[in-house]
Amino acid sequence: MYVYLNDRIVPRAEAMVSVFDHGFLYGDGVYETMRTYEGAIFMLDEHLVRLYRSASMIGLGMPLDQDRVKSALYDTLGANSLRNAYVRLTVSRGSGAVGLDPDLCRAPTLVIIAEEMKDYPKAMYEKGIKLIIAVTRRNSREAIDPRIKSLNFLNNILAKIEAKKAGADEAVMLNGSGYVAEGTVSNIFFFRDGVLCTPSVACGILDGITRDTVLDLAVREGLTVEEGEFSRDDLYGASEVFLTNTTMEVMPVSQVDSVRYGAGEIAGLLRRMYRGEVKAYVENVKGRGPSLWGYE
Ligand code: PDD
Repeated sequence: MYVYLNDRIVPRAEAMVSVFDHGFLYGDGVYETMRTYEGAIFMLDEHLVRLYRSASMIGLGMPLDQDRVKSALYDTLGANSLRNAYVRLTVSRGSGAVGLDPDLCRAPTLVIIAEEMKDYPKAMYEKGIKLIIAVTRRNSREAIDPRIKSLNFLNNILAKIEAKKAGADEAVMLNGSGYVAEGTVSNIFFFRDGVLCTPSVACGILDGITRDTVLDLAVREGLTVEEGEFSRDDLYGASEVFLTNTTMEVMPVSQVDSVRYGAGEIAGLLRRMYRGEVKAYVENVKGRGPSLWGYE
């Protein structure tokens, strides 16, 4: 396995970051998780736009421009001969003396890890997964805006610990006002009285790229869609619930706390449409030519 570190590809054993890196010391940095299908990184431009936005929101100057990041991503996939992969790109503030001041760090650290994609078990898509509503609330937008995809994940980890203790697969967090926000690594949708509902970005969530795609698909399908503020009871009263993210795509939910949900027809429909979207995207990337991994 090869890892991209700063400006070159190194064997996994040589992929080391300093203990003085502020990503390690303070969670000071940003990241993106991407997924490739047949060698093509799905929604690459959207992920890069969000990465640069996150960096800018924490005052972190990106060490490479977007074209060079794209080359680095495809070089890493090529070095590992990966076609269906999980890709994580991390940029930390870099190594520097101990202290919160970002100016202590001379240059950001950039790491790209690419591994064979391990799909979620089929049974989860067939039966749906179990959620709890966590006691831990989502960070407020005024504290750490959830739109920053940062290395500082303790808020989500605390909710994940609650889920594990309860024997659930994922936790949903409410925001400080008690409205539904998002999962620890996912966005949430539910279907109620003929309307597909999802918390608005103003609720304090990461504006997921899968969420955006699914919203577009739902509108294209003629579904009525509402982005807004929803209570715990709105969620309990839904006929269907599902989650979205880059790696799980569209994941049906069978239970939230003690409330059980039905077959997941809308989730099934949107998952099929999402797969169709992926296929079209891959064909388009293939058609664009030789520079991308796998199409030389
Ligand atoms: N997580 N909300 C949170 C808090 C997330 O961490 C993620 C993604 C999402 C969904 O975003 P997208 O659809 O762009 O993947 C929502 C990724 C998968 C991760 O942490 O690895």
